[in-house]
Amino acid sequence: MLAETLLCLLNAGIIQAAATAQLSLNNILSLDSQNLPSPPTFSLPAAQNLTITVAYCSSETTSTRFFVTNSTSVDDPGPGGGTDVYEIPVDRGLGAFSGIFPNGGVLALDGDIPDNFSFEIGASDDGPIHQVLATFPLLGDTTSNQALLFSPPFDPPSFSEPSYPNYTLPSPLLSPPSPPNSSPNFTLVITPTSSQVLTSLPQTACMISSQSSSSGNIANESLWLRDEQGWRMQWLIEGLSPQTNYTAYVVENNTTLSGPMYFVTKSAIFACPIAAFLPYCPGVTYAVPLPASGSALSIYDNTNIPSAISDTLLTYFSNFTIALTTQACGRDYYSPLQTCADCQRAYFRWLCSVSFPRCGEESPTTTTTSSSSGETSVDIPTFTSALQAQTTSSSPRNPTFPSMNMSYSVLLPCIETCQATDRACPNFLGFACPLARFNANSSYGVGYIDGADPDQQGLGVPGSAQDQWGNVWCNLV
Ligand SMILES: *[C@@H]1O[C@H](CO)[C@@H](O)[C@H](O)[C@H]1NC(C)=O
Ligand SMILES: *[C@@H]1O[C@H](CO)[C@@H](O)[C@H](O)[C@H]1NC(C)=O
Ligand SMILES: *[C@@H]1O[C@H](CO)[C@@H](O)[C@H](O)[C@H]1NC(C)=O
Ligand SMILES: *[C@@H]1O[C@H](CO)[C@@H](O)[C@H](O)[C@H]1NC(C)=O
Ligand SMILES: *[C@@H]1O[C@H](CO)[C@@H](O)[C@H](O)[C@H]1NC(C)=O
Ligand SMILES: *[C@@H]1O[C@H](CO)[C@@H](O)[C@H](O)[C@H]1NC(C)=O
Ligand SMILES: *[C@@H]1O[C@H](CO)[C@@H](O)[C@H](O)[C@H]1NC(C)=O
Ligand SMILES: *[C@@H]1O[C@H](CO)[C@@H](O)[C@H](O)[C@H]1NC(C)=O
Ligand SMILES: *[C@@H]1O[C@H](CO)[C@@H](O)[C@H](O)[C@H]1NC(C)=O
Ligand SMILES: *[C@@H]1O[C@H](CO)[C@@H](O)[C@H](O)[C@H]1NC(C)=O
Ligand SMILES: *[C@@H]1O[C@H](CO)[C@@H](O)[C@H](O)[C@H]1NC(C)=O
Ligand SMILES: *[C@@H]1O[C@H](CO)[C@@H](O)[C@H](O)[C@H]1NC(C)=O
Repeated sequence: MLAETLLCLLNAGIIQAAATAQLSLNNILSLDSQNLPSPPTFSLPAAQNLTITVAYCSSETTSTRFFVTNSTSVDDPGPGGGTDVYEIPVDRGLGAFSGIFPNGGVLALDGDIPDNFSFEIGASDDGPIHQVLATFPLLGDTTSNQALLFSPPFDPPSFSEPSYPNYTLPSPLLSPPSPPNSSPNFTLVITPTSSQVLTSLPQTACMISSQSSSSGNIANESLWLRDEQGWRMQWLIEGLSPQTNYTAYVVENNTTLSGPMYFVTKSAIFACPIAAFLPYCPGVTYAVPLPASGSALSIYDNTNIPSAISDTLLTYFSNFTIALTTQACGRDYYSPLQTCADCQRAYFRWLCSVSFPRCGEESPTTTTTSSSSGETSVDIPTFTSALQAQTTSSSPRNPTFPSMNMSYSVLLPCIETCQATDRACPNFLGFACPLARFNANSSYGVGYIDGADPDQQGLGVPGSAQDQWGNVWCNLV
């Protein structure tokens, strides 16, 4: 009698252990060495294409391995293998496996599980829950102690092409569009690169976002539609140190990691303030040659930008749109590829990039020497940014800007901004760009994105205006 009861209890115990460790569809289990079921197995939900992900949330080194099976006849998949037993490969703390699980399955941990080891597992029928995005966060610009950073984009805007006979082109925006109702939850993490802490950890969202000691403080956090790639979270960070290389990550929805990206603050003498929040030039998110702004955030925005600058710009916008629509837009096609609306968008971007000169500074040299034997030294090639020195006697590049009581360097616009406008607009407007073989490099950064010849698209030296390592070569709004 007693033995029978004991047997019943044992059976109940086994069934319960199997039933509590359930991984449900599109959900996450947060686990650590203390709250693991015994044995450490989890039943998996059924799905035609199930993606199972594992993310380490602590830096304990572990030899733990993760095995799954989609077979109903295996209840403890492990290194012994068997039919339909698979190992989830884990790289830098992140593992993913996709397969067909028509009747569900089992996930099992194998090997020693160290104390304090914490991790998450997730199962989804809609792609991986835990992932590292291929898209990096974006740098707007830095000053000596501030940085303007952007999350990866979401919700790209849709343009509706106007049609003839009511071909109405949009006017420049005077107030920003209203942000979407729901947005991902973004968290920003920044540390000085020299400490090398973040990049040596498991590259997962839970690990990186648990590093609470972030550098600087967030002075402003708001959604901004910077370009046609979509909305981004925009952060203005204050309290950084001059001439310092920082590492930044963005965590999305607690599960998705973007980064690392690097940025370098300017030297202590850099005096140009950041301009941002300009609805008619949403891509102007960088340092401009203006005197210090008295605003609380020490930046220029729509409320304090000198009206001589914005009024002139808006007149150019409307005069250009009037000239453009003397063409029978939407009825007479000047190009099989481009429309008046494309031309107007390209011109607006170009006008913003030339109307708001950008202050720049030579990046600290990234040249490293490897001298393992003390004899070889390898120089990593670096490119010089398109900087042009301005002294107190130079006239400002945009005459509506005041003369500056200091010398500084301007980071020239990338010539591709001009060429895109030239390509998109009808000939009769007479829009033309200087040629690389003459003196284009006195007003534009030439050869960074495309090569120096007009037909060398995509053959430029670094191939972009800036990179995720903190280098910025020319200005692209
Ligand atoms: C398990 O997955 C493999 C490969 O995806 C598949 O060939 C097999 O049919 C699956 N087994 C079951 C029982 O669905
Ligand atoms: C586990 O964490 C506790 C508190 O954080 C710490 O005191 C202990 O040393 C850790 N144990 C191991 C084995 O790392
Ligand atoms: C299953 O989902 C993964 C992740 O989204 C995807 O890479 C894979 O191609 C899908 N497989 C099938 C057969 O649809
Ligand atoms: C022309 O289009 C604009 C914008 O799409 C709209 O506001 C306007 O009412 C239209 N005018 C006519 C006459 O349809
Ligand atoms: C984050 O959540 C939002 C809404 O909650 C969703 O639209 C977005 O796709 C999610 N992002 C990722 C990377 O899963
Ligand atoms: C977003 O994530 C942060 C950090 O994990 C959390 O504190 C916050 O409550 C989350 N907000 C929402 C709306 O989910
Ligand atoms: C961020 O700054 C902009 C421009 O100064 C302002 O309009 C906005 O209200 C600020 N947002 C927050 C959350 O402080
Ligand atoms: C992110 O984590 C926080 C704290 O753990 C939680 O409050 C929030 O709901 C989570 N957000 C999402 C989108 O899962
Ligand atoms: C715009 O057009 C008006 C009227 O033709 C002209 O007076 C003005 O100078 C033009 N403005 C610019 C900036 O070209
Ligand atoms: C220009 O700079 C000099 C020296 O730094 C200073 O004495 C002078 O007041 C400044 N002038 C203006 C208009 O700011
Ligand atoms: C500009 O281009 C000319 C002709 O290609 C070249 O001689 C000159 O050195 C360049 N100047 C700069 C600053 O790169
Ligand atoms: C910043 O640090 C990273 C990592 O060491 C390095 O790859 C990058 O070149 C540095 N950037 C600059 C501009 O010094």
